[in-house]
Amino acid sequence: DTQIDFHLCESSGQLARLAAQRILTSARRAITTRGCFRLVLAGGRTPLNAYTLLVDATSDWDRWHIFFGDERCLPPGDPERNSHAADQHFLSRVSIPAANIHPIPAELGAESAAEAYAELIAPQLPLDLVLLGLGEDGHTASLFPGQEIPEGVLAMPVHDAPKPPPDRVSLTPDAIASSHEVLVLVSGAGKREALAQWRSGKDLPISRIKSDGRVEVLMDVAAAGEPQGC
Ligand code: 6PG
Repeated sequence: DTQIDFHLCESSGQLARLAAQRILTSARRAITTRGCFRLVLAGGRTPLNAYTLLVDATSDWDRWHIFFGDERCLPPGDPERNSHAADQHFLSRVSIPAANIHPIPAELGAESAAEAYAELIAPQLPLDLVLLGLGEDGHTASLFPGQEIPEGVLAMPVHDAPKPPPDRVSLTPDAIASSHEVLVLVSGAGKREALAQWRSGKDLPISRIKSDGRVEVLMDVAAAGEPQGC
């Protein structure tokens, strides 16, 4: 079974700083060992402060290759797209070559985009670092409770997602598992229930997440609940 390390952060600010540090350490290791860094960005709001902290933290951007864990089926440039938030907070402010940034073409519709992205990401495996968030219902990327996850595919279409918009594209646990590291960012009291259920072994989408390497969870005190013991 995948070893999962849970790391308690004093605040959301410290969580963002630690996340940025982990990303940079993973980048240095990947660039040293394989000449490039294959990073999968998480959607949602939690990672955005960490992305911003990366902007002035390094300069080897030409070695970075950016992928996305999931995308919402919205027109390009729609402010609700995960790629839009990543652009605003990070990608538009660093010099990663455009050819190395691989948004999910969700505007093609969930089925076509999933097929295209599965083909795109296959030769990139194993990924160096996959960033993930955690939803209040235990979803991660766009893997939601009760969803059928097809075997042997790397990206899947999602319909009727409980978190709008309903149509999305998501990497599958198989794609995420083909990685050296997974880093899950969990901040805020709203995630307390899902985090506690995950840690107590409940079968949630987040519980399906494995890695060939390690899975680390950065959680702040608000999400982790009252400090245990003391
Ligand atoms: C999305 C994200 C989703 C996100 C969680 C947490 O498209 O919404 O990919 O998986 O990571 O819902 O979202 P927050 O970080 O905004 O709480």
